[in-house]
Amino acid sequence: MKGLILSGGRGTRLRPLTYTSAKQLVPIANKPILFFCIESVVAAGITEIGIVVGETADEVRAAVGDGSRFGARVTYIEQEAPRGLAHAVLIAEDFIGDEPFVMYLGDNLIAGGITSLVDEFQELGPSAEILLAEVPDPRQFGVAELTENGRIRRLVEKPPEPKSNLALVGVYLFSSEIFESVRRIKPSPRGELEITDAIQDLIDRDLWVHPHKVQGWWKDTGKLEDVLEANRIMLDTFDTQAHRTWPPGVKVEGRVELGEGVELVDALIRGPVVIGAGTRVENAFVGPYTAIGERCVLKRCEVENSIILSDCEIQDIPLRIDGSLIGRNARIVKTDFKPKAYRFMLGDNSEVGIT
Ligand code: TTP
Repeated sequence: MKGLILSGGRGTRLRPLTYTSAKQLVPIANKPILFFCIESVVAAGITEIGIVVGETADEVRAAVGDGSRFGARVTYIEQEAPRGLAHAVLIAEDFIGDEPFVMYLGDNLIAGGITSLVDEFQELGPSAEILLAEVPDPRQFGVAELTENGRIRRLVEKPPEPKSNLALVGVYLFSSEIFESVRRIKPSPRGELEITDAIQDLIDRDLWVHPHKVQGWWKDTGKLEDVLEANRIMLDTFDTQAHRTWPPGVKVEGRVELGEGVELVDALIRGPVVIGAGTRVENAFVGPYTAIGERCVLKRCEVENSIILSDCEIQDIPLRIDGSLIGRNARIVKTDFKPKAYRFMLGDNSEVGIT
């Protein structure tokens, strides 16, 4: 089997971060989401992986390389514009050939990996296997309608009036029969070749599409709150403790992972927390569910339940920072200029919440 990981797209819901960076490289517990995907594909025994890339191709290439560090061989497949998930399949045909494959959306996280799923697909041998999860509001997802005996009757992309609460999760298993389907379908009203239409075409051709209900948690990390939730869930799986002797004034509580050369001075770190190499925390509190990247400086401030990317500086902030996602190289500092005022330099579509 081969693997196809989708790492193109626009990532409009995570702007401004995605103006300069691929959303699949946003770190969850200090590891890019995309790395979790690659690792679970490799863990399922699949090492020939194609990664579909778009505008952020260079950055994805720089981060993943040839895949050898994951024990995989990676081929990059350029998609000139995000024309839909089925379009990504269409352009991957040369790479996939006539082998079955797993398609994994590079911004999705699935607890427990995909090994049992891949095994089931290989054992049963359907034309496709899709993952379904019960969600409270299915209108923003591809939705599956099942028959009484649990077969798939219909798949609809983002239906205004969903017929079930079963949403499609971002991992699909396909035999090479999917290529004929992606060639047969037409773009949807939003101009994309929809994977739901391609799978519906398999069903219409009387081919077997097997539904598999997800038991554990999964997350499509398209939006800020989902990214923060995924970060909380991942940090909760940490069982490391920072066993070091700290100087007076430093307290490290609970599950905390500290990179090389992290400096703590007069600081309270309350896990689960991960702090990247070379970061300095001084006179500050880092509270539960925070992931801080490399080479940051945090002084006289309090942070919790947040993701801070590398090379940030946060100093002299009177209120606790909570529920935030802060991009690389950002500076949040107190200034002494007159008049007393907030001074911002924010990228397009930035969001600042002031209490
Ligand atoms: P989406 O989250 O559906 O789309 P998007 O990345 O454009 O995000 P937004 O809605 O915020 O603008 O995409 C799911 C995954 O598939 C994601 O990792 C990007 C990738 N993708 C491609 O590689 N090619 C495509 O044509 C599309 C639509 C998505």
